[in-house]
Amino acid sequence: MQETDTSIELVLDGQPIRVSAHGSVAGALLEAGVAWLRSSPRAHGPRGAFCFMGVCQECAIVIDGRRQQACLVTPRAGMTIERGGVR
Ligand code: FES
Repeated sequence: MQETDTSIELVLDGQPIRVSAHGSVAGALLEAGVAWLRSSPRAHGPRGAFCFMGVCQECAIVIDGRRQQACLVTPRAGMTIERGGVR
């Protein structure tokens, strides 16, 4: 069986990061070791994806300039992601 490279490069908070091209942005970031996606509104504690099915809103981040749920978006090469700005 031939092994293929299925990773892609995204831009996370201005820095390039290689992630899996499969699944969701939230899953790809978590697989790459990025669990923190935003801060809680009151205590400013770290928050990350929880349900991975579009219900909890814990994965809301800015993807390509729009607030989106990272668990519902498929990663694409060159995609820009900004964490922490969504409350
Ligand atoms: S992880 Fe719950 S909405 Fe995305």
